Amino acid sequence: MTSTFQLSEEGAAFVKRELNRYEDRHSAIIPALYRVQKENNGWVSPESVTYLSHLMDLPESEIEEVLRFYTMFNTKPVGRHHVQVCCNISCAMNGGRELADRLCQEFDVHDGEISGDGRFTISRVECLGACDKAPMMQVNDTFCEGLTEEKAIEILREMK
Ligand code: FES
Repeated sequence: MTSTFQLSEEGAAFVKRELNRYEDRHSAIIPALYRVQKENNGWVSPESVTYLSHLMDLPESEIEEVLRFYTMFNTKPVGRHHVQVCCNISCAMNGGRELADRLCQEFDVHDGEISGDGRFTISRVECLGACDKAPMMQVNDTFCEGLTEEKAIEILREMK
């Protein structure tokens, strides 16, 4: 194996359980990628795809296809707090795009990049399914809804 990435023992056992759960082992790719992202500081590296390919006995290209298709997987490093600001229709109509601009300005970070202190990556994303609570953002696994710019800044300031 050429990969330097390894899941924890628990993580590898999880992936094996997922493989046994489905008739088609491809169905285990999404949960496996989620697990890798969780254990790899919020992103899926090329090394981790190589690792999964061996662990799951699937070609790297098939794992890559899934990885590149779904936007919830990050293919480059992110800050400790990945802030995804919804800029789709309901949120856009309620200030989502301005909110993203304001957060980038406030935390001195360019869209999609990591802030100098490593705390944040702020990304603009499509609908996250909480349109009735627009505007909203997702910070790692937490949804923050019904935001104002001030409320969003206050939430992020608390995050070290
Ligand atoms: S448009 Fe923002 S959550 Fe749906």
